[in-house]
Amino acid sequence: MAGALRRFPLHLNKVLQNGHLAVKKKTRMIYNLAFLAFCAGLLLFLWNAPPETTIKLPNDEIHAGFHHMKKKDAEAFCVKCHNPKGTAPLPKDHPPKYRCLFCHKVR
Ligand code: HEC
Ligand code: HEC
Repeated sequence: MAGALRRFPLHLNKVLQNGHLAVKKKTRMIYNLAFLAFCAGLLLFLWNAPPETTIKLPNDEIHAGFHHMKKKDAEAFCVKCHNPKGTAPLPKDHPPKYRCLFCHKVR
């Protein structure tokens, strides 16, 4: 193959090489465009995400003290009442409950 190329007239060799470069540039541009489209799509997706709907930490007497605590300190108390035998058990279908205040936002 290399031998055959070498036997081509010099200017034809140049043409072949340039053609190859042009194709490479084109594929790179397509990849860049695809990447841009992907980013735009992702941005739109995040933009349209529904507002957070999880119940917030109640603003009542029971929970008043927790609104001004560090989240991690406050969370240590939650399960004292919110456990299967406590005063306010979690619903059966409650999601994994690690770090309460990540989901139940303090207002
Ligand atoms: C002293 C017991 C006690 C502790 C400690 C406690 N809770 Fe509660 N929690 C309750 C009771 C009782 C209710 C139900 C009545 C109410 O809404 O206040 C409740 C209700 C809730 C609700 C549901 C409110 C609703 O609208 O249905 C959430 C969410 C909640 N608690 C989160 C927490 C989190 C997070 C913590 C820890 C920072 C915590 N609780 C600590 C007793 C407690
Ligand atoms: C991964 C997110 C997440 C975490 C972490 C979490 N919860 Fe929940 N919790 C929910 C969702 C979702 C519900 C269903 C009700 C809703 O849509 O808000 C719920 C419901 C509740 C309810 C019942 C509210 C009602 O009236 O039915 C209580 C009480 C509660 N969570 C307390 C807690 C406590 C206490 C912790 C920590 C031990 C905790 N949650 C951790 C997401 C979470």
